[in-house]
Amino acid sequence: MIERNTVILSPTPRGLRAAAGLLRAGELVAFPTETVYGLGADARSDGAVAGIYEAKGRPDFNPLIVHVESTDAAARIADLDGAMRRLADRFWPGALTLVLRRLPVSRLAERVTAGLDTVAVRVPAHPLAQGLLAAFGGPLAAPSANPSGRVSATTAAHVLDGLRGRISGVVDGGSCQVGVESSIVGIEAGTPVLLRPGGIPAEDIEAVLGQRLSRPSGNAITAPGLLQSHYAPSVAVRLDASAPAEGELWLGFGPGPEVTGLNLSLRADLHEAAANLFAHLRDLDARARREGAWGIAVAPIPRDGLGQALNDRLARAAAPRN
Ligand code: TXA
Ligand code: MG
Repeated sequence: MIERNTVILSPTPRGLRAAAGLLRAGELVAFPTETVYGLGADARSDGAVAGIYEAKGRPDFNPLIVHVESTDAAARIADLDGAMRRLADRFWPGALTLVLRRLPVSRLAERVTAGLDTVAVRVPAHPLAQGLLAAFGGPLAAPSANPSGRVSATTAAHVLDGLRGRISGVVDGGSCQVGVESSIVGIEAGTPVLLRPGGIPAEDIEAVLGQRLSRPSGNAITAPGLLQSHYAPSVAVRLDASAPAEGELWLGFGPGPEVTGLNLSLRADLHEAAANLFAHLRDLDARARREGAWGIAVAPIPRDGLGQALNDRLARAAAPRN
């Protein structure tokens, strides 16, 4: 692929106008959302969307999330009613992605949905994401702004680490508040399904639906041994550890052993832990490589609320590598 000069754009109206200009020219620009940084491209341009798959090294059967400014804009590209409309009304703008039937009039690039008749849609809450969507004036396809299979980016520096030279710009909006990707909900055989646990706890979604979320039936990833490797640091990751072994660095949660490493949240707060997760994994990985450690041992993390998303990301980080 062509080597690009990646510019850092300021979080100002001027920076957003420059970002929108690049996007209109079919270029790729990363931008902050409240969950993680997204790698944006014009969702109506097959060429621009193809660039996302190339820059990330993403398999082209894995569809992208389309980001729009408002629920009204979402309803122009996808069928939004019933239970899904209730979720949109309650959680948008926010860390929820809905998989909806794609409307023929949507004019989305075929490659965004990887040929499916559904489309994943999200209205992000981050003011810079909102500002960019307004300046651009259309839907933006945006997966997480990291090379495929690696740890997601929650700062502009993380984005540059993985994608410098492969994208045209990144809007520097500091750290992402939520820190894990959006929860993804779809419908299978008339029942709402949690396709990915994320920034909105499943319990909160179920409270709005008035029913339990099912788990996906197809390519279901249930047992940790079968998990597809993703979010993978370069060193090994061991979960539910009580202390680090020789040669491991420690990733703690709550008060724990006095050892070298980092803590996701000393006061055992799941929101704080989610906001720290990807940055801490990156820091420990870099440190392990510097110091010749072979792995990262992670303390147990409760499975309620945001803990479900945290455990999901960690399980994938620990999964056998391909
Ligand atoms: O928080 C987030 O969701 C971030 C920010 C940037 O918005 N985006 C993100 O995108 O995490 P990505 O591409 O890393 O993950 C999108 C997930 C993928 O697992 C993909 O398979 C799934 O959404 N997906 C996209 N379209 C789908 C569809 N039509 N049906 C089922 N799953 C879909
Ligand atoms: Mg991702």
